[in-house]
Amino acid sequence: MSMIERVWKKAKADVKRIVFPEGDDQRTVLAAVKLREEGLAKPILLGEEAAIRAAAEKAGAELGDIPLIDPAKSEKTEAYAQALYELRKAKGLDLEGARKLAGDVMYYGILMVQLGDADGLVSGAVHTTGDMLRPALQIIRTKPGIRIVSSSFLMTCPNPELGDEGLLVYADCIVNPCPTAEELAQIAVTTARTAHDLCGVEVPRVAMLSFSTKGSAKHELVSKVQEAVRIAHELAPDLLLDGELQPDAALVPEVGARKAPGSPVAGRANVLIYPDLQSGNIAYKLTQRIGGADAYAVLQGLNKPCNDLSRGCSVMDIVNTAALTAVQAQASGK
Ligand SMILES: CC(C)(COP(=O)(O)OP(=O)(O)OC[C@H]1O[C@@H](n2cnc3c(N)ncnc32)[C@H](O)[C@@H]1OP(=O)(O)O)[C@@H](O)C(=O)NCCC(=O)NCCS
Repeated sequence: MSMIERVWKKAKADVKRIVFPEGDDQRTVLAAVKLREEGLAKPILLGEEAAIRAAAEKAGAELGDIPLIDPAKSEKTEAYAQALYELRKAKGLDLEGARKLAGDVMYYGILMVQLGDADGLVSGAVHTTGDMLRPALQIIRTKPGIRIVSSSFLMTCPNPELGDEGLLVYADCIVNPCPTAEELAQIAVTTARTAHDLCGVEVPRVAMLSFSTKGSAKHELVSKVQEAVRIAHELAPDLLLDGELQPDAALVPEVGARKAPGSPVAGRANVLIYPDLQSGNIAYKLTQRIGGADAYAVLQGLNKPCNDLSRGCSVMDIVNTAALTAVQAQASGK
């Protein structure tokens, strides 16, 4: 069974409510119908009702009993505004400002998740990453014990000899442009947890990537990764994690054995941690476009799940991201 088939099976076993702030996007409407038909999630669409119905008609989608909520008219908006005001007044937000924000689809959706009226949120077919991430960070915040929100890209590669039967988990490719050594270490530990808990990787093997393997090059960028390795070992002494490694030493057994003999990770890595956002984002797009891998993104470290799409996403990208969000929500309810 593939990683995504396992995710679908889990999502169906305990169906969660997923809110979509972009209810007037045709792909989102089609995805909501598919999610309901497949029993993967209970979708909720936000937006002006007439606009959502127009999108459904254009897409040829039958909305049936999918709940449609217009934050500008909802009877809950005032309570959400009060909750937002309480959360953010220390940061200078006044009640009028909170009322304005709570009437916005993105803030309304995130407040639904925060206040337990939905179990997770998916957006990004229309909005940018920052549009969703900033309010999610401000309102939902991080899980206890986690200081930094980051992302994992779940890459399913055609070559089953790579990673965990073709699955490689990449981080961070979305959120943190220039992580410090401490942040990189935290990202590595959180990503190993995502690989295990969400993707079913039994033994995560984490490679901290660089342009150097075990001191082969000397540069302050290499030193940062070495420091991150040291901190990650302190944070999670039992985790199989090694670095700094170049990607060939991380992934190819013969190269790993030559460049990093005795490493528990080299040649067998299934989790790859990139030193910054430029390298991570470039790597996932090259793996997808040149390597023919399928890519699924999730945010990790948020106290409740919210996930981001690419604006070029397909209907099935939205369905799969919602299924992953639902499985994250099952875990955060425990
Ligand atoms: C994530 C991001 C939106 C945060 O933006 P920002 O301008 O730093 O936002 P702010 O400084 O207003 O931070 C908002 C809040 O989130 C917190 N925060 C920011 N980044 C955080 C992180 N990675 N983890 C946890 N909290 C974070 C801040 O501390 C702040 O909290 P506060 O308002 O309660 O004090 C920004 O880092 C970003 O745009 N990242 C790149 C995203 C991107 O374009 N990716 C493209 C790849 S697809």
